Amino acid sequence: MSQTHTAHSPSSTEPHCSFRSAVAAGLGELQKQIPCKYLYDDEGSELFEEICQAEDYYPTRTEMAIMDQYVDEMADAVGPRCLLLELGSGSSLKTRLLLKHLHEPAGYVPVEISPAALEQAVEELHRRFPDLEILPVCADYHTDFSVPSPSSPVERTVIYFPGSTIGNMTPDGAAEFLRHMHAWCGAEGGVLLGVDLQKSEHVLERAYNDGEGVTSRFNLNLLKRMNRELGADFETDEFSHQAVYNSDEGRVEMHLVSDRDQVVTLDGQEFHFREGESIHTENSYKYTLSGFAEVARAAGWKVEKVWTDASRFFSIQYLTVDMDD
Ligand code: AVJ
Repeated sequence: MSQTHTAHSPSSTEPHCSFRSAVAAGLGELQKQIPCKYLYDDEGSELFEEICQAEDYYPTRTEMAIMDQYVDEMADAVGPRCLLLELGSGSSLKTRLLLKHLHEPAGYVPVEISPAALEQAVEELHRRFPDLEILPVCADYHTDFSVPSPSSPVERTVIYFPGSTIGNMTPDGAAEFLRHMHAWCGAEGGVLLGVDLQKSEHVLERAYNDGEGVTSRFNLNLLKRMNRELGADFETDEFSHQAVYNSDEGRVEMHLVSDRDQVVTLDGQEFHFREGESIHTENSYKYTLSGFAEVARAAGWKVEKVWTDASRFFSIQYLTVDMDD
């Protein structure tokens, strides 16, 4: 059955001023910080794609290798006639592999904030899976949206959230987000998600300070974006990318460090930087298996199955509703 590809709900891109106000507020804090979602403009998203190919960035290829090895088990765990709801645009190799192995999927719902990315993903997947009912939703998955119903019966709605994107949230934030997922998939629902694991500081810091310098460009693009879109006057050569593993918090932190004392102006307001002072731009939490099980448990989910690589660098986890909750 061929489906039309109209977006289910209108694009909910935020007004431009939210970037401006987030920056003004964040630069006013004692530890300057900017929400990590602002790293992902068109330029930033392109650089992130490049990061995923970088030799030193292990997560993408490790997750793909786990999928390659265990996709049949994953399809069995999820079961027949599932409605797969992916958070983020799903034109990736991982999504294709999963869709190829699912047993008579009832449909596929990609939820994506960028209309262009969504359209491209849908077109690509429709070409490869002409019999799959695709029901795109153009929305920010941090807000509420309703899940469309496919024409064939759904045994179970499964949320697919690959890439360890959940690592951008604090553990409390991750639990809150996971709790929110119950509303999208109901009592029979499941979650299949990528979770990056704790490992040696050396490997972690290398992954976020890659030898090709892509991550550095990705991080510094935020300064360029503030200059481009907000008319700020950051001297981008006077800041350095830094990524450090904070083992107490179990997270890699990205910062933009000022190379010297300097003043930046935005909307007539001056922001002072001391040499060595930073803007905190992103967190990437790394979990132990028991640590993540606790987060899932706090959100009413039970870890049904975990697949990892031989080095235990990365995990793909299947969560089902915790009936004891
Ligand atoms: C998209 C959040 C999974 O934390 O590994 C990669 C983002 N930032 N390199 C990650 C990122 C710098 C990435 N996530």
